[in-house]
Amino acid sequence: MNFHILTLFPEMVMNGLGTSITGRAMEKELLSIEAINIRDYAFNKHHSVDDYPYGGGAGMLMQAEPIYQAYKSLCTKMKLPEGKRPRVVYLSPQGDTFTQTMAEDFAKEEELVLLCGHYEGVDERVLEEIVTDYVSIGDYVLTGGELPAMVMVDAISRLVPGVLHNDVSAEFESFQDHLLEYPQYSRPEEWHEKKVPPILLSGHHANVEKWRREQSIIRTALRRPDLLEKAELTEEEWENLKKTLSE
Ligand code: ADE
Repeated sequence: MNFHILTLFPEMVMNGLGTSITGRAMEKELLSIEAINIRDYAFNKHHSVDDYPYGGGAGMLMQAEPIYQAYKSLCTKMKLPEGKRPRVVYLSPQGDTFTQTMAEDFAKEEELVLLCGHYEGVDERVLEEIVTDYVSIGDYVLTGGELPAMVMVDAISRLVPGVLHNDVSAEFESFQDHLLEYPQYSRPEEWHEKKVPPILLSGHHANVEKWRREQSIIRTALRRPDLLEKAELTEEEWENLKKTLSE
């Protein structure tokens, strides 16, 4: 999968994503991540890419033309079927809140363009012309779209086959089945007088799986009860949960 990030701060994005799992996936050519500096497409001699908003008001706006030129140059490089335009995400607190389901949907794309805003925003006309999806990473305001773009690239990348060591782990972690992950333990068997739950040492695979699902359900009920509505619990699991919570 190929990510193309349109930004005024390419080093920020590449430093963040060039390390750890995404960095290794780039080395293995499972992913490509490129940051395109919008300033390279400035059309005046000062290389400025911002200007005052018509009608007045605080702050500066990113101008339409440098973003559009950066996008056009990208489109000529991308391998897209004839007549097909890439999906272009504009990161903004006004967008739809990013979810695991959205990550799964974006992971189906071969090419994904992310546009990072800065200053007080972007000239609306270029957004109308190129953006297909408006995405927020939560109800708070950041100084720019770079961190949100990095969050999206990270969440989408780990769904690309081969990026995680173990393909099973992407499937079974938090939010799959709308349940949170069960508690996990590693060596030693006892730490600070706390013992690993004996069932995990029993070697009985079916019982371990049953215990883990119970723990996931209890944890979700306590920490994220809103998720339980979508989780498909059996009658018996609902009964057991009610019993556990009343104890
Ligand atoms: N830009 C600034 N704040 C943002 C947010 N919460 N999500 C996405 N883009 C943003």
